[in-house]
Amino acid sequence: MDFEHIPVLLTETIELLDCKEDGIYVDCTVGGGGHAVEIADKLTTDGTLIGIDQDLAAIEAAKESLSNAECKVELVRDNYKNIDRVLNRFGIDSVDGLLFDLGFSSHQIDTAQRGFSYQYEAPLDMRMDQRASRTAADLVNDLSQSELTDIIAEYGEEKWASRIAEFIVRYRQDKPFKLTTELVETIKAAIPAGARRSGPHPAKRTFQALRIAVNNELEVLTKTLDKIVPLLKSGGRMAFITFHSLEDRIVKHKFKELAQDCICPPDFPVCACDEEAEVEIITKKPITAQQKEIDDNPRARSAKLRAAEKL
Ligand SMILES: C[S@@+](CC[C@H](N)C(=O)[O-])C[C@H]1O[C@@H](n2cnc3c(N)ncnc32)[C@H](O)[C@@H]1O
Repeated sequence: MDFEHIPVLLTETIELLDCKEDGIYVDCTVGGGGHAVEIADKLTTDGTLIGIDQDLAAIEAAKESLSNAECKVELVRDNYKNIDRVLNRFGIDSVDGLLFDLGFSSHQIDTAQRGFSYQYEAPLDMRMDQRASRTAADLVNDLSQSELTDIIAEYGEEKWASRIAEFIVRYRQDKPFKLTTELVETIKAAIPAGARRSGPHPAKRTFQALRIAVNNELEVLTKTLDKIVPLLKSGGRMAFITFHSLEDRIVKHKFKELAQDCICPPDFPVCACDEEAEVEIITKKPITAQQKEIDDNPRARSAKLRAAEKL
């Protein structure tokens, strides 16, 4: 199967990264290499591009798409939360740019057997890293009703979360969940018919919630944001493309915190905290896709791009 994925906000992202031809850049979610190829294009033989992805299929696809790059290319199958270790392995202390194009690729969702999609019958899997031990089936079979409610409500922003969790627990009393379709039918049974008639597919939010939980996406993002600024050279840039409000909120708040000079309470007469801003936010408002891009690639509709520069 070809690796089908249209890179989102490509021109805007490359512009914001403002690549130096001899710089070191890390695409932390390299996927099929859509953004990485454009970054590599800006680099000469003195430049380096490191691509990280936890999904083997992505690394194989990126190898292919970057095969003609002039710059040095290193591809690493790992979780981006280990970026410090990855750089260490190549003897690199700091880099000129970091890109995070978060979430899943079209390839992942379109590969039925990966179990990301509510549209195909497949094992209920959803692991981006196929070496990870815990699948979506493990979560729906093992978590308590209240844990499931919390996950579906928080990560899926699903108002029917507690009913869905209740129906999941009732279903699994007979037999464990194995397939996506079993979960889809359970969700449909839990959401009243009237509420199901409008809006997105009834399983969309629950599937999003489980995918986030299986891959620990928000915790990984938060912990990575906490440690990446020292990995950037002064003047180096980091860009994040997010696809839902939970991710965007995490990036937005961390950028704000990193860009803050003084964190003393407003009624302090003089600064006593000695805090200094570490970055300058380049995108005062997140960049979103133009209508033309959304028409060509509906996935771009929810994309938000934020970038900051290390001071
Ligand atoms: C939206 S796709 C990236 C697409 C890529 N920019 C392109 O244009 O081809 C996101 C990729 O990030 C990977 N990914 C998500 N979370 C990750 C993590 N914590 N560590 C490493 N890779 C991750 C996924 O496996 C997926 O391949």
